[in-house]
Amino acid sequence: MQLTITRPDDWHLHLRDDAALSTTVPDTARTFYRAIVMPNLKPPVQTVDAAIAYRSRILAALPETMTFDPLMTLYLTSDVTPEIIREAADTPCIHGVKLYPQGATTNSEAGVASLDGMMETLETMAEVGLPLLVHGEVTDRDIDIFDREAIFLERTLGPLMQNIPALRVVLEHITTKDSVEFVKAHPEMAATITAHHLLYERNDMLAGGIRPHLYCLPILKRSLHRDALIAAATSGSPQFFLGTDSAPHAVGDKESDCGCAGCYTAPHALALYAEVFEQAGHLDRLEGFASHFGPAFYRLPVNTTEVTLIREPTEVPMARPFGETEVRLLKGGEIVNWRLA
Ligand code: NCD
Ligand code: ZN
Repeated sequence: MQLTITRPDDWHLHLRDDAALSTTVPDTARTFYRAIVMPNLKPPVQTVDAAIAYRSRILAALPETMTFDPLMTLYLTSDVTPEIIREAADTPCIHGVKLYPQGATTNSEAGVASLDGMMETLETMAEVGLPLLVHGEVTDRDIDIFDREAIFLERTLGPLMQNIPALRVVLEHITTKDSVEFVKAHPEMAATITAHHLLYERNDMLAGGIRPHLYCLPILKRSLHRDALIAAATSGSPQFFLGTDSAPHAVGDKESDCGCAGCYTAPHALALYAEVFEQAGHLDRLEGFASHFGPAFYRLPVNTTEVTLIREPTEVPMARPFGETEVRLLKGGEIVNWRLA
């Protein structure tokens, strides 16, 4: 059995930089034509020039036989002025501005401590139609890590959307039933969902041994939340679409006393999603989720080529080269039901 769909795009991706690009760029480009590239480098991508330079490094790592269009983003800090927003909106390769609450995740030290001083910048984004891509977690130490996403909706995102209703918002890598309900209650917004949050819940990471390669942020939640994400992703609603949040870290940085957050899924992401949609009995809705709803939100054309998945038990490679070391794949060494033709 095989499944041919419009070539998909990845609406939330970490490619990293320098030597890592020779793995991460082809690993994504084998499946996806476009990807929204996260700006959480060190230092963060905060200017149009930095985004354009990063895009050139990405394209320099693309093998000649492949096609790929990196869609760039800026990292929101107090240095990102309304003038920079206007310049970004006039730059064809820039498609969004990323909000990282300070301290929420990998390389978020430069992130936003409070939105109070950011209103002019955010209003300018609403005016020019540049989407705000949101890592939706509060970072207060007194808020339990499993509650950080739900509290963010209440304290930060709800008020923001009330203050600036015209702001175009993507709530990224949602992990809770609360976020599914929040997004449905705001028909003008969208959310991305990762493969790992559809496949796993927190017991998979913590019961019977701790599995560092399932540790990502926002952290895996209890199974009722996973079920709500599956229902949203496979519902056919255009508000929910594919964003892998593929986030490679060197194996030693994951298997460590203080391990980094992030799952590497780019090479086999589409097979992982296919497994979830098949299990839910909605394989026919994979194409909308993977290939149609993202471009509609981002006001871009749907891709004109196709990819084919073959239903055949296939072993996931353990690792891929990553600079001087390697990066482990999610489900490395395990069998998945689908592979790219
Ligand atoms: C991401 C990373 O490593 O850059 N990690 C993750 O667990 N998702 C950052 C992010 O998107 O939160
Ligand atoms: Zn991410």
